[in-house]
Amino acid sequence: MNTVQRTIRFTLNGEAVSADVPPHWNLVELLQNRFALFGARESCGQGLCGCCTVLVNGTAVTGCLYLAALVDGAEVVTIERAADGDGLDAVQKAFIECGAFQCGFCTPGFILMTRQLLDEKPDPTEDEIRHYLSGNLCRCGAYPEIIEAVRRAARMRKSTS
Ligand code: FES
Ligand code: FES
Repeated sequence: MNTVQRTIRFTLNGEAVSADVPPHWNLVELLQNRFALFGARESCGQGLCGCCTVLVNGTAVTGCLYLAALVDGAEVVTIERAADGDGLDAVQKAFIECGAFQCGFCTPGFILMTRQLLDEKPDPTEDEIRHYLSGNLCRCGAYPEIIEAVRRAARMRKSTS
């Protein structure tokens, strides 16, 4: 059966792109099937785990529930662009230095959510950290290290600003 596709144009990791998408595709399907970007993964598919986190116009969204066609005209950033130029950004460095992962399946989502948190609240309280990350699940249970990594990233960002 042929599905009518819609052409959308948007900015993906700093580059202007276009793609034809079936109307039922979600954002993860668009990134994986049209751009071979696999950092946002679909796990629960129900908006519960945060593995599919993507930034759309600077706001973290759950890619599994976000219709691909809605990014028409938007600015989309995935974990593949999280680096600072050729190097790691403060959040990525802090996650490595704190050992804030085991299998790493959840890590892209946590990193992008942490980036949004620190953009909005450069010096977050522990309650704010827990609140912002409450939609991200880590099956390996690396939560103490993740919270420490967020604190460390905040300090690193402050010391370079
Ligand atoms: S896969 Fe999207 S929230 Fe779990
Ligand atoms: S590090 Fe394995 S799910 Fe989080």
